[in-house]
Amino acid sequence: MASEPVNVNEFQELAKKALPKMYYDFYNGGAEDQYTLKQNIEAFRRITLRPRVLVDVSRIDMSTTLLGYKISAPILIAPTAMHQLAHPEGEKATARAAAACNTIMVLSFTSTCTIEEVASSCNAVRLFQLYVYKQRDVSAELVKRAERYGFKAIVLTVDTPKFGRREADVKNKMIAPIIKNLEGLLKIEVDSDDGSNLEAYANRTNDASLCWKDIEWLRSITSLPILVKGILTHEDARKAIEAGVNGIVVSNHGGRQLDYAPPTISVLEEVVHAVGGKVPVLVDGGVRRGTDVFKALALGAQAVLVGRPVLYGLAAMGESGVRTVIEMLKKELELTMALSGCPNLRDIKRSHVMTHHERL
Ligand code: FNR
Repeated sequence: MASEPVNVNEFQELAKKALPKMYYDFYNGGAEDQYTLKQNIEAFRRITLRPRVLVDVSRIDMSTTLLGYKISAPILIAPTAMHQLAHPEGEKATARAAAACNTIMVLSFTSTCTIEEVASSCNAVRLFQLYVYKQRDVSAELVKRAERYGFKAIVLTVDTPKFGRREADVKNKMIAPIIKNLEGLLKIEVDSDDGSNLEAYANRTNDASLCWKDIEWLRSITSLPILVKGILTHEDARKAIEAGVNGIVVSNHGGRQLDYAPPTISVLEEVVHAVGGKVPVLVDGGVRRGTDVFKALALGAQAVLVGRPVLYGLAAMGESGVRTVIEMLKKELELTMALSGCPNLRDIKRSHVMTHHERL
């Protein structure tokens, strides 16, 4: 591509060229048939917009407040593993880009830079994503460190009692991550003849017995707000509220865990209704355009998170690539709001979108 990338899809092409196949496949791939992975994107495409005209859109305000923090737009950075596979500066570069864009970054538990390195590299509002390991004290230690180093919330990922079968990683024999946060804390032998030893690593470490009552355990070790990431049904949304969580992320892990789980945008509304405004509802999976962000907001999300687009930006151009990706999505959202007659985020209503069913 001779010219500068003009959208997220072009960043994806650049990332594909920049990365070794094993790493590109790891970032890009999904579980098994990759039905959910593809449908996350396709489901957004099936939603069309109902623009309103002759509204004064000479000033557009995309800013919003989430968990008490004012951010420039409702587009957050999702937790994704191992940013140093994309760029030597890894999560530090991503965090600096988040700060430059005035948005929130969720740091992955399986990051290649430590909590301390990321905290000292910028003043972005950072949340910490948690996996609960069988060795609970290891997870507890990371929660304490995140709290000490100024992370503002814990995002507990609940869709990984077992690791999804990502067949590209199995074929490529994708290796287990170097999780610098865990140095000195965890000793684990990974010796897998079964393809991806990443999978073997996760299955040995992750606590598959985690259940709702463990939110109490998490509450007992931190005073930070707790969000749960990986909710896809109204039943679980209600359970999360009963458990006292401070926020919900509607997510299918970017189609990397349970294949044939529904595309997130198709279940957002049922979760939003169940939550009834008690806590913020966020959504991720398949957001590639500002119009996607607009659709998610119209269906009741407070904000979206983006996973792969950030990795594409990082692989293609480091920190400035991540910044460009976020700024592109913001510009696209701004244009969508203007052309739909919505000067402020609160003007974006359910009536601005038409889902597939309504067209039939
Ligand atoms: C992820 N995701 C993820 N989630 C999480 O809670 N902890 C993690 O460490 C990771 N790691 C991870 C690695 C890679 C390479 C990807 C692509 C995704 C899931 C992530 O937070 C988010 O749910 C999805 O990425 C959202 O979908 P999109 O934006 O990638 O389509």
